[in-house]
Amino acid sequence: MTDSRSPAVLTQAALDAAASHAAHYLERVNELPAAAQAGIAEMRARLIEPLPETGRPPEEVIDDLARRMAPGLVTTAGPRFFGWVNGGALPAALAADWLTSAWDQNAVMAAGSPAASVIEEAAGAWLLDLLGLPADASYAFVTGCQGAHVTCLAAARHHLLAREGWDVERDGLFGAPPIRILTSESHHGSVERAARLIGFGQRAIHRLPVDGSGRLAPDYLAGALESAPDTPTIVLLQAADLNIGACDPYESLIPLAQARGAWVHVDGAFGLWAAASPRFRHLVAGIDLADSWATDGHKWLNVPYDCGYAFTRHPEAHRAALSHRAAYITYDGEARDQCDWTPEWSRRARAIPTWAAIASLGREGVAAMIERCCDCAAGLHAGISALPGAEPLWAPTLNQGLVRFPDHRPGATSADHDACTDAITAAVCASGDALFSATTWRGMRAMRLSCTNWRTGPEDVALSVAAVRQALAEA
Ligand SMILES: Cc1ncc(COP(=O)(O)O)c(C=O)c1O
Repeated sequence: MTDSRSPAVLTQAALDAAASHAAHYLERVNELPAAAQAGIAEMRARLIEPLPETGRPPEEVIDDLARRMAPGLVTTAGPRFFGWVNGGALPAALAADWLTSAWDQNAVMAAGSPAASVIEEAAGAWLLDLLGLPADASYAFVTGCQGAHVTCLAAARHHLLAREGWDVERDGLFGAPPIRILTSESHHGSVERAARLIGFGQRAIHRLPVDGSGRLAPDYLAGALESAPDTPTIVLLQAADLNIGACDPYESLIPLAQARGAWVHVDGAFGLWAAASPRFRHLVAGIDLADSWATDGHKWLNVPYDCGYAFTRHPEAHRAALSHRAAYITYDGEARDQCDWTPEWSRRARAIPTWAAIASLGREGVAAMIERCCDCAAGLHAGISALPGAEPLWAPTLNQGLVRFPDHRPGATSADHDACTDAITAAVCASGDALFSATTWRGMRAMRLSCTNWRTGPEDVALSVAAVRQALAEA
């Protein structure tokens, strides 16, 4: 295609088309089915075709893209998606994300974009303040909590091995003193992948049992620390496990671990945001004592995908583990070059939507959003649990709850209860009125509800409870 229009006209045409499709989509997001209407086979049929030999006008491409994609979209941007922990996108964050693309900054170094460098300083300081972390902690904007784990554990690896006299950046891990990770049995899978990526291997992870509340108990941790007192150790705690939102008892565990020389890392993918709420902050009391923290912006701060944050109490270890020098890069002694802090080289300026999200809500608005989600999770759990045929398993202490739907036929087995729970969960999703995910918890299948979208309100709770009632009635 040779399109003779000017770059300005071509760009305007494409952006107008995208804005119109986006606005149309988001105007209807409350009414759209929560689940995708097309599966993999239909989406392959809609999208996969031979490479085009010639191009098309950009607005035509955007129209075609919107038409082809629509049936395969899951309405995670909408208010009745309660599966997994996804969050939505605040208006200011979404619009700032568009600007991020329009500006197309490469946020690798300050010389490449002073604006993209300094907005990280601004947003980084806001995040530390909101989350109650030390004001002088180091920070990095990464792809998600997975990337944040890798970043923080690389800093931990440097710190622990330097103390053993081992230069891991120069010599790698072959022959290095082994490092172990002590964590609870309910840790997230991203921790295991981080352990693989940074060369510890999954066998370095020691799973400790949790108490009745899903929290790693001090006695278990003390025993594990004593079992190999000279082994360099990372203690990995959770700020909200994925099933019930359990938060470990930081005030007792962190001093215990640090007294034995361990580095304490917190997986706070969504739970760290409890610290931004006066009502829920008590759940994470003492979390600021840790050595590093990983969390997400794309979950509970409701910035568009992808965006995660890594923080450490040890800027020198963080920088030593991540920074790299190259002759062709222009370093600025005055500035904070982002490539010194992240595992990426060229990268998106993720601080821009983060800055916009926080600027649009302020401290009070962030707290209100967190609290509204928790209230909705509690309302959903209470409403569903009260339905005939439902059984509460875990009432949310934060934003995660569990219910199940036992099979009431005489002689029903635990396999029947599991099958019935999966069937009701699937029926609710198929209705399109709400989307919940299923999980296995303490050996039982359960329907898991998770609430992290800024749009969700009491009317969505009522509609979603009604959808479960309907599924139970039709079962
Ligand atoms: C507790 C927990 N940790 C880590 C992660 C990984 O986060 P991300 O998908 O942003 O990399 C998740 C994702 O759902 C999570 O729930």
